Amino acid sequence: MAKKTKQLERDYFESERNFRLLVKNVTDYALYMLSPQGIVANWNAGGERIKGYAPEEIIGQHFSRFYTPTDQAAGKPARALKIAEETGHYEDEGWRVRKDGSFFWASVVIDPIRDSSGRLIGFAKITRDITERREAQLRLEQVQRQLAESQKMDALGQLTGGVAHDFNNLLMIISGNLHSIKKDLTSPRALRALGAIETATQRAASLTSQLLSFARRQSVNPRTIDIDRQIASVREVMASALGSMMTLQIDIQPDIWPVFIDPTEFETALLNLVINARDAMPDGGAVTVSARNDPDNNQVLISVEDTGTGIPQDVLSKVFDPFFTTKPIGKGTGLGLSQVHGFVHQAGGKVEIDSEFGKGTTVRLCLPRSDATEHPEQEGSIKQASATVLLVEDNPAVADASAGLLEQLGYTVRWVPNAETALREIEADDVDLVFSDIIMPGKMDGLKLARTIRERNPTLPVLLTTGYSDSAKHVRIDFPVLRKPYQLHELSRELSKLTGHG
Ligand SMILES: Nc1ncnc2c1ncn2[C@@H]1O[C@H](COP(=O)(O)OP(=O)(O)OP(=O)(O)O)[C@@H](O)[C@H]1O
Ligand SMILES: [Mg+2]
Repeated sequence: MAKKTKQLERDYFESERNFRLLVKNVTDYALYMLSPQGIVANWNAGGERIKGYAPEEIIGQHFSRFYTPTDQAAGKPARALKIAEETGHYEDEGWRVRKDGSFFWASVVIDPIRDSSGRLIGFAKITRDITERREAQLRLEQVQRQLAESQKMDALGQLTGGVAHDFNNLLMIISGNLHSIKKDLTSPRALRALGAIETATQRAASLTSQLLSFARRQSVNPRTIDIDRQIASVREVMASALGSMMTLQIDIQPDIWPVFIDPTEFETALLNLVINARDAMPDGGAVTVSARNDPDNNQVLISVEDTGTGIPQDVLSKVFDPFFTTKPIGKGTGLGLSQVHGFVHQAGGKVEIDSEFGKGTTVRLCLPRSDATEHPEQEGSIKQASATVLLVEDNPAVADASAGLLEQLGYTVRWVPNAETALREIEADDVDLVFSDIIMPGKMDGLKLARTIRERNPTLPVLLTTGYSDSAKHVRIDFPVLRKPYQLHELSRELSKLTGHG
């Protein structure tokens, strides 16, 4: 009997020793006990690893030294013990301080320990360093925020793109018919009124075009562009936009690489940026437009820098949103940077903005370097001046307006509402040129039509037009595209390129 008790006792001490060894050697957790007052009573390897103290340095010290000065001042250590004692458990996450003063993000559990009579004899404390997990979590949240932001931009883009596309058709009808009316008007008053309508229509068209740029649905005509020449061609416009109170400096690195972009969109973007710079410098200042190669990322960086008011931090995140403006009503529509954003993204690049409140702003366009293979423009064979144009357009009112313009230019117009009818018409009759909308209901859109024509009648020139196109980038490589709403002279220019007169 006595022998058996001895054995049990040995087993007990053996397991007790094992348990102590276990606790002592755990390295992933700081496991230790506190006296009821919070004095550290023992210490394990995890404590040493996580907090940096050897046992002899910390046993006998108050555990509040693991807290930040702010938490100490707020009485957090004492409160933790109180909660543990009263509720039987305390759990928390927060910053804790290592021996060397550095912070780590800790997960902390405190449990009260009582003897058999229920008297509090101390606390068991478990601390884990979860800094890495927290950082991973923060990174994840950051990525999620960015994703949400880009989804918001996409959704806005879809909405804007749809509205703007409809607007372009409406504007096409307005501006097309304006040209027809103009011929019949003689009274100066009526002509003045018409002039005002024309100006308003052009303004509406340019706003719609900015919206489409933002939505990345602008039909773009990208070409390989020499930045130096392109910037030089708008230098005068930029300088006169800035006026005499401001200086314009242009700084382009020699041997700047070419980029593959839509030149009109690029000019619009530059002007939008320069006008923003002007508006930010009511007392004058300097604007620098610079361009340099970035060999690390195989891109060209074009920046517009001003010495203006700068942008407050809370405003900075919103400046690319369509219709976001801080300018008074009538001064800004909030579409300038939206256009820049859309243009750059459609060109496969990105835009960055740096601003220091009170110091100035820099907007940087990062555009991918062009592989510099020019895409030759399609040139058709010579046709007589009174050519017959087959107009393919599903919207009768738009067709009417376009036909009016074509007739003014001396063309004979035959109108068909869809691609299938167009193909039959081409088979049956003599057509010199096909002018087709890209987006049309039915099996075949304008691009498919153009390709079919090229297969069957390789010499028949095709001009496409669109209010927007997601795939305009690819279209342009094969066929010329005229952007809706177009003016008489633009239509004339494109057509004469194809027919070889003009
Ligand atoms: N260079 C700049 N310096 C200071 N603030 C700027 C600058 N560029 C843009 N901003 C701020 O960003 C806002 C949005 O600019 P954005 O060009 O999109 O629209 P806008 O200039 O207000 O109007 P819009 O260009 O359509 O006439 C501006 O209202 C202004 O608050
Ligand atoms: Mg602007």
